[in-house]
Amino acid sequence: MLGSEAGGEMIRFDRVVKRFGDNVVLDELDFAVCPGERVTLIGPSGSGKTTILRLLMTLERVDGGTIHVGEECLTHVRRGERLVPADEKHLRKVRRRIGMVFQQFNLFPNMRVLRNVTEAPVHVLGQSAADAERRARELLDMVGLADKVDAFPTQLSGGQQQRVAIARALAMSPDVLLLDEITSALDPELAAEVLDVLRDLARTSDITMLCVTHAMKFARDVSHRVLMFDNGKIIEDKPPADLFERPEQERTRAFLRSVLEEA
Ligand SMILES: Nc1ncnc2c1ncn2[C@@H]1O[C@H](COP(=O)(O)OP(=O)(O)OP(=O)(O)O)[C@@H](O)[C@H]1O
Ligand SMILES: [Mg+2]
Repeated sequence: MLGSEAGGEMIRFDRVVKRFGDNVVLDELDFAVCPGERVTLIGPSGSGKTTILRLLMTLERVDGGTIHVGEECLTHVRRGERLVPADEKHLRKVRRRIGMVFQQFNLFPNMRVLRNVTEAPVHVLGQSAADAERRARELLDMVGLADKVDAFPTQLSGGQQQRVAIARALAMSPDVLLLDEITSALDPELAAEVLDVLRDLARTSDITMLCVTHAMKFARDVSHRVLMFDNGKIIEDKPPADLFERPEQERTRAFLRSVLEEA
């Protein structure tokens, strides 16, 4: 169903199936995230966490089920009485509500920091150069990089590049921010700088966050809910204190042991 079933949720997966060949990565996955909620996905490598985020970014298409973003269906449009897969134009429109930060920064290497942040607001949202620049400077100040606006990405540390990537995502004023292991390519000290920026963001904004991370302390500090994901399904869904201290499933306990040993 379109619209009416979305019922105040910011993200909703209904029986979502995603396959790569014979590999069923998401197996009729259901879950929802409310506006303003911060949800962390954890689970073993290859379990489909990135796939969930890529489906939301429309970098992948579903093989079954539907995804809603707010009241709008992302994956399908209604044609007469039928739901048919959404076309590019519809995907682009709904995707505008979502921003994503990747593990590998993905900044535009030939553009200075300021332009990295203003490029999409100007060219995609049609903001004036002056408005986009004002907002970009505010955001770069917020992530602690006011003095780097004229640098090129290669002149920055990994942690600084990742903070630019966060500012760039926020410049599009998304309702939802997706974060995929954004600190795993960074040394601990640089990772801490990036996580501090997100802690501040969590404290000062009501943006909805869906995050994949191995940084368990961070997950615990900022998440309202942690979802343990295994074999295409969510096997445990709890507030972080419960999930980390009283995991019910043996699979969750084994996973947490392995992550903590790594740390
Ligand atoms: N483009 C693709 N083509 C084929 N198989 C893919 C593709 N993308 C992902 N997969 C497969 O889908 C499964 C889930 O991958 P995904 O990247 O979502 O896992 P993940 O939970 O993010 O793992 P990690 O913790 O290692 O990042 C894996 O088995 C992977 O090999
Ligand atoms: Mg992944």
